[in-house]
Amino acid sequence: MFPTHRPRRLRTSPQLRRMVRENALTTSDLIYPLFAVPGEAIAKEVKSMPGVYQLSVDKIVEEAKEVYDLGIPSIILFGIPTDKDADATGAWHDCGIVQKAATAVKEAVPDLVVIADTCLCEYTNHGHCGYLEVGDLSGRVLNDPTLELLKKTAVSQAKAGADIIAPSGMMDGFVVAIRSALDEAGYQDTPILSYAAKYASAYYGPFRDAAESTPQFGDRRTYQMDPGNAREAIKEIELDIAEGADMLMVKPALAYMDVIYRVKEATNLPVAAYNVSGEYSMVKAAALNGWIDEERVVMETLTGFKRAGADLILTYHAKDAARWLKDS
Ligand code: PBG
Ligand code: ZN
Repeated sequence: MFPTHRPRRLRTSPQLRRMVRENALTTSDLIYPLFAVPGEAIAKEVKSMPGVYQLSVDKIVEEAKEVYDLGIPSIILFGIPTDKDADATGAWHDCGIVQKAATAVKEAVPDLVVIADTCLCEYTNHGHCGYLEVGDLSGRVLNDPTLELLKKTAVSQAKAGADIIAPSGMMDGFVVAIRSALDEAGYQDTPILSYAAKYASAYYGPFRDAAESTPQFGDRRTYQMDPGNAREAIKEIELDIAEGADMLMVKPALAYMDVIYRVKEATNLPVAAYNVSGEYSMVKAAALNGWIDEERVVMETLTGFKRAGADLILTYHAKDAARWLKDS
């Protein structure tokens, strides 16, 4: 018997394949992460992330223009302060590095959507995402004192011009705390993109080189999620939705495609996936060795995130992907 169902019929030409394609990446989906450092005319490549740089504010502005010209709608800013301390002063100070970068970018490229990562790990002298009891070497971050610092951070970022606040420290109640602080300060229209389901992942290694935010002791397992858990991600997003989150993020992306899918099924809010540093570095390493076709691997991966349900993708490949999309 010959098969009557022949799915191959719809694969016979590029145009036909294009017509029946279910999911496709667009430039509008992309968010490009940038690392701001103090100083001027600085562009220092991150060793473990070829093509990714720590940039001084003047260079961030140049980069923001390039990103905008490529059609990418948004950047997310991380900051490396001059000084780190127990109170993460650099995170919430009005003259903080992210605040400066946000103001400069909004002045130069007003239409580019600037997201501020709202966390303390780059700014604390121990590298944890929150406040620790003085002398505590266990790394058990104190939840509610941390919320107070996050509130100040978010408000000063909004004041500096950030369009979206993205809390990433996995503290309980951080969305409602930040929401009420923003509202009180007059930023009712500033959305919150919550890192809602963020796992304790080894894939963050290269980012910690870039952001100089490796914990000096302990690890982040008392606040970031256990990699074995999926239902818990739904619990996390339900809380964040109830607290007033406007968008939800799953992080990392590749090893958590099922979580992206489940979160998308469970909410009508936009879902973002963070294609994290280690995922980028692995692709870069293989590509630089000539072991894989970088363009095809990256586009396949990013399309995979879309298929899983991501509406937005934070990725260090964003500029390359935008160029490839233009050429295709
Ligand atoms: C922490 C934070 C992390 C990343 C961004 N903000 C993870 C961590 O250090 O625990 C990771 C991003 C990446 O790996 O690309 N608030
Ligand atoms: Zn953090």
